[in-house]
Amino acid sequence: MPKARTKGAGEESYFVYLVAGIAALAGLLFGYDTGVISGAILFIKDQFHLSPFAEELVVSAVLLGAVIGAASSGTVSDRLGRRKSIIITALLFTLGATGCAVAPNVWILIICRLVIGIAIGVASYVAPLYISEIAPPKTRGALVSLNQLMITCGIVVSYLVDYALAGDEQWRWMFGLGAVPAAVLIIGMISLPESPRWLMSRNFTEKARAVLSRIRRTEDVSGEMKAISDTLTQKTAGWNEILRPWVRPALIVGIGLALIQQVTGINTVIYYAPTIFRDLAGFSSAKVSILATLCLGLVNVFMTVVAIWLVDKVGRKPLLYWGMSGMILSLGVLGLAFKLPSMAAGLKWIAVGSLVVYIASFAVSLGPIFWLMIAEIYPLKIRGRAMSLATVANWGFNMIVAATFLTLTQRLGASGAFWFYGVMAIGGLFFTYFFVPETKGHTLEDIEKYLRSGRKLKELK
Ligand code: BGC
Repeated sequence: MPKARTKGAGEESYFVYLVAGIAALAGLLFGYDTGVISGAILFIKDQFHLSPFAEELVVSAVLLGAVIGAASSGTVSDRLGRRKSIIITALLFTLGATGCAVAPNVWILIICRLVIGIAIGVASYVAPLYISEIAPPKTRGALVSLNQLMITCGIVVSYLVDYALAGDEQWRWMFGLGAVPAAVLIIGMISLPESPRWLMSRNFTEKARAVLSRIRRTEDVSGEMKAISDTLTQKTAGWNEILRPWVRPALIVGIGLALIQQVTGINTVIYYAPTIFRDLAGFSSAKVSILATLCLGLVNVFMTVVAIWLVDKVGRKPLLYWGMSGMILSLGVLGLAFKLPSMAAGLKWIAVGSLVVYIASFAVSLGPIFWLMIAEIYPLKIRGRAMSLATVANWGFNMIVAATFLTLTQRLGASGAFWFYGVMAIGGLFFTYFFVPETKGHTLEDIEKYLRSGRKLKELK
């Protein structure tokens, strides 16, 4: 089908970058608040004399909260709008971070971590959703992926903060510092406009026109407005709409990519890298392990920049193919390295090298593309709800993988666990080939029209 693009000087509007940059702060909070616990937990455990169960609760409260947040907010983002949802989320972040910092006992701490989790669950999809509805098609991939870039930066910043504050056991500050970007996000979002697409779906046509003119830097936005309003002719927009046969292929893509993003093991590396380095690869000092983990975090950031540079040029599917192939290869080698009798010096470095290739391959593909694609493929009227569903799946699988990694390594050995993730990535290649569309360069309205036409989604090119 022909690739409709927005015309005019508007495509170069810097305002769009500002909007995307501020909204992507939600990604920074996502990364920071999931990463910070790895360092903080060591001191919390000692201070509150935590039982293993309480420790698990402190660590997993965020994941549980994220599932709850994503599950309960789909209707909110469709009803209240994207902008208000992000503002509410940022308030929750601030509240949760401050609460953690002053928590008098472990139960308050767990509740505050749950609140942060709820905020992460909502922010993880509303931020990409908002950016995708503001961005012009030509640079939408890059702009939405800014959110993923901020996630990776948030993870690195959390490692750095943990590292810097570990000497004085300042775990309260580790959490409390999260309130700073949250406050910036609130202030930033208050000054930004609502998504023009959401405004039109709520019949605020004139407001939508004003926002579009501002972000496209042209008065002539009637073409884009017409395309949006054409997709809004259908009245129905309840949860039942999500289950309609014509929406189903998009649901399969969203939930399938959520599954693949998580069951290929990314968060076992993000959450357990120091353990992998120390216990499995035999690095003797904890400090070296943490530094090595920091390097992985930086590779994650750098390769996300590469993805941003490539995603609108080569497209989403080629990146998925390259990235998953790299993951399969590195997981295979990693498993092999752990299979050999003892982690001799050389092998140790092979293991580290494989982890680097693995994280680089994820960062250039599944990392940004899952969040990007779920912001692109759903029809406007139910976009918030459908995205929340895919996001629940993502956090749900995340939880399952995190909870089973240590058992998996006990049962199958480290090699078995990594090979298992590798096999899942092979499944991911097939899934991409058989189900995933190429959304590069299409307007969101084009994609919706195509979906409604009932043609095979994977044939959208
Ligand atoms: C994933 C997270 C992961 C992060 C790592 C995100 O896209 O959803 O689960 O921790 O990437 O960079």
